[in-house]
Amino acid sequence: MVHIRTLIYSIGLVVMTTSAQAAGDAKRGEQIFNQCRPCHSLEAGKNGIGPSLHGLLGRKAGTVPGYNYSPAMQRSGMVWNEDTLAKFLADPNGFIPGTKMVIAGIGG
Ligand code: HEC
Repeated sequence: MVHIRTLIYSIGLVVMTTSAQAAGDAKRGEQIFNQCRPCHSLEAGKNGIGPSLHGLLGRKAGTVPGYNYSPAMQRSGMVWNEDTLAKFLADPNGFIPGTKMVIAGIGG
């Protein structure tokens, strides 16, 4: 959970203004994000194996233009925040059955 929070501050850094806490956590968040990097970019509009995570927090799941989501993700109706992201990363397929993001136990 602690690491998820750190990761979120790191992603948040790109999206929102810099806070002292975010700056302090950025380095650790960066390391965690290396686990996501093979599939995800933080740049707007840059989709890879997974969709761009630019502006993730507060965004509705499955809505990045030009990315071919699984029906499960599109139907989830989820909004990404600290809570939903932590649950998803802990067990992607348990939280959104049928998602095509298949990793487990990443991020802490
Ligand atoms: C092996 C490739 C892979 C890795 C590694 C990976 N993801 Fe994903 N991710 C995907 C795929 C594929 C999807 C699309 C899932 C779908 O459509 O069901 C996705 C979707 C997502 C979504 C939903 C985005 C949206 O627009 O709704 C989030 C959030 C996410 N990933 C976060 C992460 C984070 C954070 C990490 C690192 C801790 C990570 N992912 C690591 C492949 C990956």
